[in-house]
Amino acid sequence: MPNHILTDRDADGIATLTWNMAGNTPNVFNNETLGEFRTAIQSLLADSNVTGIVIASAKSDFIVGADLAMLSAARQLTKAQFFDQVRSLQQLFRDIETGGKPVVAAINGTAVGGGFELAMACHARVCSDNPALRVGQPEVQLGLLPGAGGTQRLPRLVGLREGLGLITQGKNILAKRALELGLITEIVPADHLLARAKTLAKSVEPIQPWDKKGFRVPGGEVQSAGGVETFIGANAMIDKETSGNYPAPRLAAYAVYHGLQVPMDQGLKIEARGFTELVFNPLSQNMIRTLFFSMGEANRLKTRPKGVPAATYRKIGVVGAGLMGHGIAHAAATNGIEVVLLDVDRAAADRGKERVGQILSDAVKKGRLSEAKATNALAKVTATDRYADFADCQLVVEAVFEKRELKNDVVKQTEAVVSATTVFGSNTSTLPISGLAQASQRPDQFIGLHFFSPVEKMPLVEVILGEKTSDATLAVSLDFVRAIGKTPIVVRDGRAFFTSRVFGTYLVEGVAMLGEGVDPALVDNAGRLAGMPMGSLTVADMVNLDLSHKIRLQTQADLGDQYRAHPADRIIEFMVAQGRFGQKTKAGFFDYADNGDKRLWPGLRQHFPVAASQPGLAEIKRRLLHVQGIETLRCIEEGVIQRPQDADVGSILGWGFCPFYGGVASYVDYVGAKTLETECDQLADQLGERFRPPTLLRQMAREHRTLYAR
Ligand code: NAI
Repeated sequence: MPNHILTDRDADGIATLTWNMAGNTPNVFNNETLGEFRTAIQSLLADSNVTGIVIASAKSDFIVGADLAMLSAARQLTKAQFFDQVRSLQQLFRDIETGGKPVVAAINGTAVGGGFELAMACHARVCSDNPALRVGQPEVQLGLLPGAGGTQRLPRLVGLREGLGLITQGKNILAKRALELGLITEIVPADHLLARAKTLAKSVEPIQPWDKKGFRVPGGEVQSAGGVETFIGANAMIDKETSGNYPAPRLAAYAVYHGLQVPMDQGLKIEARGFTELVFNPLSQNMIRTLFFSMGEANRLKTRPKGVPAATYRKIGVVGAGLMGHGIAHAAATNGIEVVLLDVDRAAADRGKERVGQILSDAVKKGRLSEAKATNALAKVTATDRYADFADCQLVVEAVFEKRELKNDVVKQTEAVVSATTVFGSNTSTLPISGLAQASQRPDQFIGLHFFSPVEKMPLVEVILGEKTSDATLAVSLDFVRAIGKTPIVVRDGRAFFTSRVFGTYLVEGVAMLGEGVDPALVDNAGRLAGMPMGSLTVADMVNLDLSHKIRLQTQADLGDQYRAHPADRIIEFMVAQGRFGQKTKAGFFDYADNGDKRLWPGLRQHFPVAASQPGLAEIKRRLLHVQGIETLRCIEEGVIQRPQDADVGSILGWGFCPFYGGVASYVDYVGAKTLETECDQLADQLGERFRPPTLLRQMAREHRTLYAR
């Protein structure tokens, strides 16, 4: 009994094979669906009554690639066994294109990854005019390469330059662009799709261009002048964008380079080898785990407390219409939620609303939002200076200045007017939630909702549990985060919570190196080469040195004797005393020109002389990443972080920590507890106790444990 693939035959010899994967899921390749597909297509190819075949989908998308859970499970096989499986799928696709019968893909919706590879193995690809329809090979985004012929067929269809670009960047493209490139055969109205595909299955020549004698790669062979130039450019681009940290784009380019100089069947073997390498590479495994599985689970609110009815949001309040407040208002309003935006006076609140309008009109200008939707969203925002307007808000988020007394006052004024069920969220970046909740009559309904700047671009919300925050409050707060299209992680209360705390260690570690005489250019470049989005000094300038300084003074005042001085403290203090606050004042570790160009402040070398002997690049990179790993372990040990998945998702979305490691917890596991312990002990002896391994790491090292298998 077929479960996933339906076969239908017309009187005129055309058979249609329709993918309709059982269950509420898009069509994907897994052992079951592929097994059924193999049987179905082989019997059609062998059937002399069948003269042509159409491959279609009954779902809204065509086929969206391989089931990544199947790929994860495949690692239980030996590499050789897995390679054979890959080859067998490649051979099936090869049988389709060399079977002597016209095979046409009727692409009704998105066809990516394996789905598009199957389509490319067909003799024609007709797409419907569905405006959302995209095609492409996004595999490198998850640390893989197309392993079912994508690296071979795509550049043979569109040429090296375009083909390499699409594969090594992993970007999906709209059908219209695919047609321009010659990647698909035609676009037809959706209701003609099947009929047109069937007509083509009667007329198209059942042979691929690359199986014809004298085939040449469009636009020039690999060894032509243009081809050589393309690869020089592509390799340079890959290195620039990945700093050599991501194995997938390189191996994909390798498969194209070597595969296109040999016949198709040998090219496929080269591709299968690269694909197998990547599937078994721990970096790719980590990327898939975090970027696909953990992010998906976070977005689906997997850890949401059960048994609390789902909340739908109609109206919320935001106190403080500044940088963060207007961003939060924008996120809610664009997702159909009414927002009451309150500030000290009407003028301040109006300015906040104007800034929401500005983001919306920018989006319209860029073609990302329709005029009507922008108008609608802006109409959802009401600017006010009266707390009474919060009366029917289901949730109120405060984003006023970072002052405890001020925040306490906001809590009191809000609670005086809202209903007994209203949840109060604080966007504080540093003040512990349990302390702020003391000002509340309902500390169980008090929670931290830590957004990132700029809110309209940053997808993460760090949800912070106070001591008394109830499960119900957590559940409906997570519903809110989802309702505004953001991704939540849940952490427990503690100084600077998780993201700012760990990210801060990266910032100050780089700054501290200046005091040791490390060349500032080396410090900043090492951070980027290690895989961080920006160097420590660049990031320190962006955050604002004055703010870092103030936070440090506050921490010192709060902790008293417990405060552990950091070697960066005196350097930041010095910069602030010089009036060099960072990018905002156009003077920090860098000088900033009006056109945005920056160069290191020449005074830096004068005040922090560069030592004659410099540490190696690898040493600095290791130090900058280890310091974040060790702080993450402390967060886990203290219970701030409860699941490594939260640390991984939070680190990638919050501060861009090396996605190729799969995030900061995966980094710890990748390095290995024993190695990390030894190296951090050495760093601690040399640089200070901030590197000293916490008990958790010692225990993991002793027991050969990882964070994921703890
Ligand atoms: P901001 O200075 O841009 O905005 C604060 C707003 O609060 C101003 O519009 C001010 O008029 C208003 N305000 C002050 N007192 C008020 C009162 N009594 N009633 C109503 N409104 C009042 O500050 P920003 O950057 O938006 O920060 C706000 C909060 O968000 C702070 O707690 C900050 O620590 C936190 N945060 C800031 C991030 C950032 O990147 N700037 C990131 C994450 C959190």
